[in-house]
Amino acid sequence: MASNSAPTLLWGGRFSGAIDDLMFQFNESLSFDKVLYKADLHGSITWAKALRKLNVLSDEELEQIITGLQQVEKEWEEGKFVIDTKSDEDIHTANERRLGELIGDAAGKLHTGRSRNEQVGVDMRLWAGEQLTDIASALKSLLAVSATRAKEALPILMPGYTHLQRAQPVRFSHWLLSHATFLKGDLQRLEGVQERVSSCPLGVGALAGNPFGIDRDFMAKDLGFHSVHPNSLCAVADRDFVVEILQWASLLMAHLSRLAEDLILFSTAEFGFVQVADAYSTGSSLMPQKKNPDSLELIRGKAGRVMGQASGFLASLKGLPTSYNKDLQESVEPMIDCIKTVSNCVRITQGVLDTLTIHGDKMKAALTDDMLATDIADYLVRKGVPFRKTHHIAGEIVRKAEESKVSISALPLADLKTISPLFEDDISQVFDFERSVEQRSSSGGTSSSSVLAQIAAIEEYVKN
Ligand code: ARG
Repeated sequence: MASNSAPTLLWGGRFSGAIDDLMFQFNESLSFDKVLYKADLHGSITWAKALRKLNVLSDEELEQIITGLQQVEKEWEEGKFVIDTKSDEDIHTANERRLGELIGDAAGKLHTGRSRNEQVGVDMRLWAGEQLTDIASALKSLLAVSATRAKEALPILMPGYTHLQRAQPVRFSHWLLSHATFLKGDLQRLEGVQERVSSCPLGVGALAGNPFGIDRDFMAKDLGFHSVHPNSLCAVADRDFVVEILQWASLLMAHLSRLAEDLILFSTAEFGFVQVADAYSTGSSLMPQKKNPDSLELIRGKAGRVMGQASGFLASLKGLPTSYNKDLQESVEPMIDCIKTVSNCVRITQGVLDTLTIHGDKMKAALTDDMLATDIADYLVRKGVPFRKTHHIAGEIVRKAEESKVSISALPLADLKTISPLFEDDISQVFDFERSVEQRSSSGGTSSSSVLAQIAAIEEYVKN
């Protein structure tokens, strides 16, 4: 069934038949690309200024166009923009149609030499650039909160894990900073992504460039882009910036998800190391006692969504022939959704960390003497025994303690001496978690000085 008359559409001149209703809906992108309205209007203002420089527009026409576009922006802003469901195909055509209604004939000159193929690239890049700046500052405040919480929790020791088995004591702050370190990497990578997002395709036409000598440098500068896209065929085909955003976001989400997983685990009754605040938890409709860390579970779940968007769009991209193809429209929704998801997840993570209750007593209670077995080995290393031997000796001690059903610190010195005569009274000093943690004072280690240095480095990074 067809009710939209194609000849009345913006591109309808060469059409005689109507467009099928479902095809119109299938083709339209306004339902999702309307969030790009501001970027689209700003792009058009710049375009109009460049046309003025070419004398395609008079001063008066330029003025009319700018005032009209500003009026359209106001309508979007105030929720008063009325979508024409019969003809508005995407944000570009909707804005141009409305401009025409507002200012008449002059609007018809605006699209001179311009294609939606370049326009959509401009809009997406401008919008994404702004959103990524917001995400960068949200990530910075997440890092700042991590540093603050790490500082106040400095004295708290907890079991450090490998294979999720108790391994060696660490500072809780050190654990928190391990996650912050991943996130700092994400921020550093983001700078590169932002640079490549900020490449301006305006002035490349549908595929072959601009025949009027439009000033591309002027337009890129006017819109705040860092560079001018160097090739017209590539520029209209280029969604690498979307792929990069999605892939960058996938890794960031993997990091947020791993942090979430740790916190979910640590907040169980079995661990009891932390408690997620009410503000970031929800209850059960059936079990009255339940308080669930839904915030963190959603973050963990949404990581999969973002990773799916990255591989999904890459699959859409891989077989495309040269320059623009409509398949590229499939980049818009995942980009918008991914950015919204990431932005929410970063902010929620910050809230969870900011309000987290840290149970240092529970962490301390989970420390067991066997986690100091490596320190016993190191004790003998300091007495000149090769590490491979000391490892074996410490292992024997653990086994002996297990057999005697006591902790390794409770084994009498005489028993230790039967395993190695080098053990002396001072072995008792080894059974001290604080000492163990403080001994790891090389940079990146668990000692307070090392942890404070990590905090300082993150604080410094956040400031700049
Ligand atoms: N909505 C389209 C997109 O996102 C805009 C470009 C349309 N270009 C075209 N030649 N039909 O890709």
